[in-house]
Amino acid sequence: MANSVEIRGLSRAFDGNTVLHELDLDIREGEFVALLGHSGCGKSTLLRILAGLDDEIGGEVTVPARRSAAFQSPRLLPWLKVWRNVVLGLPGRPDRALADKALAEVGIAERATVWPKTLSGGQAQRVSLARALVREPELLLLDEPFGALDALTRGKVQQLVGELWQRHGCAILLVTHDVEEALLLADRVLVMDEGRIAHDLTVDLPRPRDLTSPEFVTLRARLLGWLGVTAHTLEGTPS
Ligand SMILES: Nc1ncnc2c1ncn2[C@@H]1O[C@H](COP(=O)(O)OP(=O)(O)OP(=O)(O)O)[C@@H](O)[C@H]1O
Ligand SMILES: [Mg+2]
Repeated sequence: MANSVEIRGLSRAFDGNTVLHELDLDIREGEFVALLGHSGCGKSTLLRILAGLDDEIGGEVTVPARRSAAFQSPRLLPWLKVWRNVVLGLPGRPDRALADKALAEVGIAERATVWPKTLSGGQAQRVSLARALVREPELLLLDEPFGALDALTRGKVQQLVGELWQRHGCAILLVTHDVEEALLLADRVLVMDEGRIAHDLTVDLPRPRDLTSPEFVTLRARLLGWLGVTAHTLEGTPS
């Protein structure tokens, strides 16, 4: 299958501090990729570049024109009703029917005409997903979208993302700190370190995935090992 994303030698520095260091990455069309890595390693920096929010870069980045992003905080405009937030920025007049369809897909059709401040965290995150989906992206960029949710809501929204991915067939790059979340959802799990993709793990397990299966447990241990080594190195402890 063709690539949706191609990154070659991507570099980004802030005030002389190199965050991305000649990073290479391909994501295939329709592929679900999760991205792990210690705090501050450059995950959001990479996502912002792919979203087109940052172009002060070196190297080459090829992404589909139709792409959208959802971030840890839903970033809804408080002075617009929910449905208007969903279709904000789309060309033409705000299309209520389009917003309703997307809101129905994420399971909160009945909240279309309320103000964002009346939503729960999980509902706001669903609106944020609806806003990303309404653009019919070929690439969906998710930066810790479940980070602020309680465990139960998080599980539900995780499952929703899995279903939406299967239905829409878009490529997804999901940044997360949660190894299990990555293994439950993704075809491939990347670990970022030193400004590059340090590890690339194919998750060849049938869906829905079973956290207790020996294969799952083995992959989790491998990822935790990679992340642990990273933390160890960071603390400056000799290895
Ligand atoms: N606009 C900016 N100006 C200066 N430094 C920045 C800027 N954006 C990011 N950085 C720096 O780049 C590094 C990577 O930041 P980034 O937000 O990409 O990390 P992250 O992997 O997403 O971390 P986290 O897991 O905590 O979200 C950090 O050291 C951060 O301070
Ligand atoms: Mg981040």
